[in-house]
Amino acid sequence: MLSHLIYVSNRLPQCTQQEIDKILDACQRNNKNYDITGVLLYSDTKFIQYIEGEYSQIIQLYDKIKTDKRHSNPVLLTSTPIQKRSFPSWQMGSKKVDVASVDFKTKVSDEDRRVFDSMLAGQPGSDTKAIALINKFFK
Ligand SMILES: Cc1cc2nc3c(=O)[nH]c(=O)nc-3n(C[C@H](O)[C@H](O)[C@H](O)COP(=O)(O)O)c2cc1C
Repeated sequence: MLSHLIYVSNRLPQCTQQEIDKILDACQRNNKNYDITGVLLYSDTKFIQYIEGEYSQIIQLYDKIKTDKRHSNPVLLTSTPIQKRSFPSWQMGSKKVDVASVDFKTKVSDEDRRVFDSMLAGQPGSDTKAIALINKFFK
């Protein structure tokens, strides 16, 4: 069943930009084979990753990612079925964000800011709001 998954984690100091580039290389290498698409948001201290694909595939990938030493304390915010993909052509889009002065593509409301802050704090909220917000970084 087509599903999506969002988690937040702490980027560790050893995870330099060079390491991020390696992660994105792995995404390009692997995600296509598993028909996984999504986006990775990262700041100096945090990751938020949005992954979509067959439920078994995204869970398998998440299990692998969780053990990666470049981040810590992954917290699953949601993993639910979806009708269609939000990022069908992205093996893994990425964007560096400054969590203090978040740079969205479109205007965001105070409500968006609250949704983002609760995601960063690892508090699952509404799925729909979380996806809508992630989209605003890219579209
Ligand atoms: C925040 C984060 C996100 C990651 N996302 C992915 C991903 O979407 N796909 C992937 O294959 N590896 C991802 N990785 C890397 C995996 O943990 C692992 O290093 C990689 O899949 C190994 O690839 P290989 O088996 O081709 O050597 C991520 C790692 C981190 C820290």
